[in-house]
Amino acid sequence: MSEQAGREARLIVTDESHHAYVAIELIKRIPGFSELPPLAPSQPPFLRGLEELEKSLPTEFADDLLIAFVAISETLITSILRGIPRDPRVVSAVRNTVRDHGIDETRHHSYFVYVVHQHWASSAPDRREILASLYPKLIRLFLDPNIDLCRAWLLEAGSTRTMRKSFCETTIRQNG
Ligand SMILES: [Fe+2]
Ligand SMILES: [Fe+2]
Repeated sequence: MSEQAGREARLIVTDESHHAYVAIELIKRIPGFSELPPLAPSQPPFLRGLEELEKSLPTEFADDLLIAFVAISETLITSILRGIPRDPRVVSAVRNTVRDHGIDETRHHSYFVYVVHQHWASSAPDRREILASLYPKLIRLFLDPNIDLCRAWLLEAGSTRTMRKSFCETTIRQNG
């Protein structure tokens, strides 16, 4: 990869730390935040999925898996970020933060499209075969809803059993 591509990658790491910082600061501004019960800690299912994929592959493909994993995570989310800043139901502080985040993520998206092209072009046919099977699995991994976590949050929010059941059935139907 070129020196410029390396520089851009380091800039993306800085962007992501900034996004985390801004998100935490925004959460702290929610009225009554300090009285809210902490959310149950949980590991996102896509990290479990990554571990499983890693175990299923020969060790020499570990770097390919990580490149594909990050490339998919950085190219799937920009449409969500584009919708929120235009939604008048969302408070302006959140809309503005998401708008700024979306501008950065659009740049990340372009960068990772380039990474995927470079990775594919520099891979031998046997490696391309592995990559071609990895990409759809990774897309699925990121798009599948985290039903267990949503159920836990609904429970904490005081929802009824019927509400949780209806939410899970609707989510499965929409994503099935
Ligand atoms: Fe980000
Ligand atoms: Fe990003």
